[in-house]
Amino acid sequence: MNHLLSIEELNAELLNELIDSALKLKGERGAPTSKPLAGQTWAMIFTKSSTRTRVSFEVGVRELGGSIMFLSSNDIQLGRGEPIKDTARVLGRMVHGCIIRTFAQQDVVDFSEYGNIPTINALTDEEHPCQILADLLTIKEKLGTWEGKKIVFIGDGDNNMSRSWIWAAKYLGFELIVAAPKSCQPPADFMAKVGADNVTLTDDAVAACTGADVINTDVWLSMGQEGQDEKEALFGAYQVNDSLLRHANKGHIVLHCLPAYREKEITESVLEAHSVTILQQAENRLHAQKAVLVKIAKS
Ligand code: CP
Ligand code: NVA
Repeated sequence: MNHLLSIEELNAELLNELIDSALKLKGERGAPTSKPLAGQTWAMIFTKSSTRTRVSFEVGVRELGGSIMFLSSNDIQLGRGEPIKDTARVLGRMVHGCIIRTFAQQDVVDFSEYGNIPTINALTDEEHPCQILADLLTIKEKLGTWEGKKIVFIGDGDNNMSRSWIWAAKYLGFELIVAAPKSCQPPADFMAKVGADNVTLTDDAVAACTGADVINTDVWLSMGQEGQDEKEALFGAYQVNDSLLRHANKGHIVLHCLPAYREKEITESVLEAHSVTILQQAENRLHAQKAVLVKIAKS
């Protein structure tokens, strides 16, 4: 594994290895046994906003002994039209790795190919692999395992989070129900490419949540979709609220990658009732990403 570009490119063995490594790094935080990024400088190029991803990578790289610089695409020549391939070839001669948040998945793929340095997808329109690693870690901590659990993703079934979750389900084999309005479900060609019969699509939120162990949601409008009122209006029946959660299994957990829009995809009451889990999930970004950095950094 040289990069983390998507969950699609991983497999069960790598997912398990990364989660186990994250748990170990979490346990030894503050008393690390090594500094694998000592002497390295990493760059972050972000063309979308971020709180958790930016802070967790800045802290994680430093805790592993490296230095890190944040490059807003507005401030570098990329924002004025310099091609990814030139940016990648220049940075590849100076920094030891790059973490990119942007729109097109192809830009992250291109960067990894031209830069010839470890490259991490910090969210594209297609996938959010770092978040899914943190979510899996949280499930392992809270429920012991994802095996045999019924996991629901409710909301926009065709966004970066749902797609990454679908790939994770394919490799790890747990039951995943994606509950979304029909027009916001992943298209047939994507589902055919994944080819996972343990993943079900439905537009029935109550049926999806009945007997669920994990209820996972995300914003209805992802970054770049602001103002799409017609799309947002489709999600009324897909709010994670107390009445929906009454159908879930006893001991269920609620996940939200944050940021959350209260009284839209999740109510204030549910968010606060499950805030311990949701904030643990946010913190787990740090530990999961440190595991990725340790795995892909060149020595
Ligand atoms: N969940 C997540 O990626 O948060 P940020 O957008 O704040 O980085
Ligand atoms: N689907 C959301 C995730 C935010 C972390 C977005 O892309 O905006």
